[in-house]
Amino acid sequence: MSGISEEQLWQLAVTTLADNWWHDHTVPSRTLYPYQWSWDTGFIAVGLAHVAPARAWHDLRTLFEAQWADGRVPHIVFDAAAMTDPKPGRERYFPGPAFWRSTDVPAAPQRPTSGLVQPPVHALAAWDIYRHSPDSESRERAAAELGWLYPRLVAQQRYLTTHRDIGGSGLACLVHPWESGQDNSPAWDAALAAVPADLTLLEKYQRRDLEVSHRSHRPTDADYARYILIAQRYRDHGYLDDGPGERYPFLVECPGFNSLIIAAELALAEIAPVVGADPQPHRERADRLTDVLVDRLFDPATGMFHARDVYIDQLSPVRYLGGLLPLLLPDLPTAQVKSLLVEAAAPAFGLNEHVSLPLPSYDRTAPDLDPERYWRGPIWINMNWLLWRGLRQHGQPTLATALRGAMIDVVRRSGCYEYFHTTTGAGIGTPEFSWTAALTLDLLAHPEG
Ligand code: SER
Repeated sequence: MSGISEEQLWQLAVTTLADNWWHDHTVPSRTLYPYQWSWDTGFIAVGLAHVAPARAWHDLRTLFEAQWADGRVPHIVFDAAAMTDPKPGRERYFPGPAFWRSTDVPAAPQRPTSGLVQPPVHALAAWDIYRHSPDSESRERAAAELGWLYPRLVAQQRYLTTHRDIGGSGLACLVHPWESGQDNSPAWDAALAAVPADLTLLEKYQRRDLEVSHRSHRPTDADYARYILIAQRYRDHGYLDDGPGERYPFLVECPGFNSLIIAAELALAEIAPVVGADPQPHRERADRLTDVLVDRLFDPATGMFHARDVYIDQLSPVRYLGGLLPLLLPDLPTAQVKSLLVEAAAPAFGLNEHVSLPLPSYDRTAPDLDPERYWRGPIWINMNWLLWRGLRQHGQPTLATALRGAMIDVVRRSGCYEYFHTTTGAGIGTPEFSWTAALTLDLLAHPEG
């Protein structure tokens, strides 16, 4: 091991989060993502719970104040006070408010947002902040915050499990790869191949990510053009979720996203008694969805979960880390738990008790693995942190301890980067990235592994 000490790492993470506080929320990164992002906010709250719980609650409040009337929690909430950068008329980020035009939609709030969603990690985060309350005073404050948040979290789940059950299976559909949070994963390649890559869109709109990040770390122009086209169609359809058709050129059921919906139901079952609500409907929904998840997305031939393209009703063959996330579910059937543990240990991901680097986002044996490019191979701390929770959930303390050690080690060596090279662990993407800092705090706060 090398790099800074654990005490220095703690301080670095605290400073990173403090520096990324902007107006009334924490930004993922001051350069690449200068607004508030939905699932980032959940992960950030998990870390802030240990050092600044009031700020964690504030972050969640700012996000949920921008919730739409239909229950959707937008994946980006823009900050009117910081909407333009020093060059007059230029937005800090593309696609910004002028692209999404949310304020034209009756269901959207006044504050501009995107119209997409991201994985619902917020109930899990809220329950974590409550659980980590150090004394009775902060627990009381946490209970009051849960009282405010609970109906909003319930509305978020309702949106995802009803409006977004576009395929009719019971699982939520993603209408855009950005909704998975694993934007550029090879898991979407087959479904995306059916979407035209209209490069003229990149003449009309200017990518801003390449001004602050290396081109080889980011999605290609062809994929970016597809992202724009899909978002444009959904926007032009008023962000309505009313059945398959050309306004959704991409329609996919993702095992990671749906596992997090189920994990959110289970967190709500814990939160319900604190706010005087009934936990039972949450448990029942979680049970039902777990059955559908196994039925729809588990492939006995590969031993893991895969994304399903709803249009052709086929599983993507790709092995990606999202396919191991059902380990988060305590009631996943034993056969699937065993199978996922075997797959996690296989060469594609390489988990073992001496693991020196966290697991890659994509099968390391795949010929098209790209160790530097966004979600196509690099290591992400949030995905490994979720897997770490799953391992603890399923009685795997030795593997959980090893994975925790590998995560802390890579951040000690390279810093709070957005992601890390698959085989060297070098930091890539944007530095001073909030969720890496936040989840490192959570790992350090759990020395028992
Ligand atoms: N992650 C996307 C981006 O790269 C948007 O959420 O901008």
